Formats: sequence, C-alpha cells, structure tokens
Amino acid sequence: MAEPSIRLRPVVEDDLEMFRRFLTEPSLIGLDWAGFRDAQEPARRFATDGFLGPDDGRLVVEVEDDHVAAGFVSYQAGQYGGGLLSAGMARYWEIGIALLPEWRGRGIGWRAQAMLCDYLFSHTPAQRIQAGTHPENIAEQKSLVKAGFQLEGVVRAAEFRAGQWRDGYLYSRLRDDPSPL
Ligand SMILES: CC(C)(COP(=O)(O)OP(=O)(O)OC[C@H]1O[C@@H](n2cnc3c(N)ncnc32)[C@H](O)[C@@H]1OP(=O)(O)O)[C@@H](O)C(=O)NCCC(=O)NCCS
Repeated sequence: MAEPSIRLRPVVEDDLEMFRRFLTEPSLIGLDWAGFRDAQEPARRFATDGFLGPDDGRLVVEVEDDHVAAGFVSYQAGQYGGGLLSAGMARYWEIGIALLPEWRGRGIGWRAQAMLCDYLFSHTPAQRIQAGTHPENIAEQKSLVKAGFQLEGVVRAAEFRAGQWRDGYLYSRLRDDPSPL
C-alpha cells in the first residue's frame, strides 16, 4: 500500500473530539495511557492559544488526499547547558506523537516526526530535539531512527506507568544531523 501523503497543520476546533478521545478511551493512545484525564482541557487550551504556545504546542497530522486527521505531534521546550549565570541557556525540544490506530504502520509516524523536526529547526534556533520512548515500543523506535534520530541511551525509572516505574529510551536529532526528507 502506498504511503499516504501528509502535512502538519495547526489544530482546528473539529480536532478537539480526537483529543478528547485520547484522554478518555483507555489505551487508544497506546503505551502512554495514564488513566482518565480532564476531557475539557483541550477545549480550554485551544481557546487560549490554539495549541501554539511559545514553550509547547501541537500540530495535527493530516492525510492530504482524505483531509482527515491521522493524529497529532507535540513539542515541549526544555533547557540544557550554559553556565548557571549564563543568559544563554540552550533550549531544546522534546517531541511526541500519537496516531489513531487505523493510520498506524503506514509510514506516517516517521515522516510526521521528521517533518516536525524540520519545522522546529527552521523556525527556532534549537540545536537539539529529543524524544523518549518505551523499550517495548518497537514501532516508535524504528520510526525515530527513520526520522533521523539516534539512540542516546536508557533513562532508568523514567516514568511511572501501568503500576510500576519503568525505563525509557532517549533519542535525539541535532540540527546538523541529516533530514531524511
Ligand atoms: C509509534 C507510531 C508513532 C509509529 O508510527 P507509524 O506510522 O505506526 O510507523 P511507521 O509506519 O512510520 O513505521 C516506522 C517503522 O516502524 C515499523 N513498524 C511500524 N509499526 C510496527 C509495529 N507495530 N511493530 C514493529 N515495527 C513496526 C515499520 O515497519 C517501519 O520500519 P521499516 O521501515 O524498517 O519497515 C504510531 O504507531 C503510534 O502513534 N502509536 C501509538 C502512540 C505511540 O506509541 N506514540 C509514541 C509514544 S513514545
């Protein structure tokens, strides 16, 4: 099956139902399911800044031919490096992704994450984009490598999930790493 053509676009009101589903349908989001969450929160956030804040945001992954939302990508700022008193603390981005089950395994995940990196490197001076995933999430591990990321290592006891503390895998793509797109 041909890989569907996709684009990233800002969130619109019609996408809020998909966000509500990810917050209230157990395991729809996959391994990141962390229990029921406030289903009204996406509407409040949308009203505040359309999910396009300076420190974090979301873009919808849209299948171009069908004009349907396949899922979303997210980005959140963090800081590394620079001396304690340095004004030049370097911001990096941590990205995430969730696709609806019917759109998984069709070459969308790696391309959406590669597109998000190109977008963030193009519009912000960040040197580093990182992404964490679960040891059992083979699809995301492969997807990140295809999107130009490298495995940095294991972050021990990185998250409390499904009843216990679990390790995570940390990946990064730097500004000078080649884009696969
Ligand atoms: C993880 C996710 C983003 C991957 O995106 P995707 O569109 O399904 O994956 P892709 O089609 O881009 O495939 C990328 C690679 O992973 C492989 N892959 C895809 N699904 C797989 C699976 N279930 N098991 C093993 N490998 C898989 C593909 O074969 C491809 O590798 P290849 O080119 O070597 O064959 C998507 O499945 C998803 O949203 N899952 C639920 C949410 C989630 O886990 N988010 C990440 C949390 S850290």
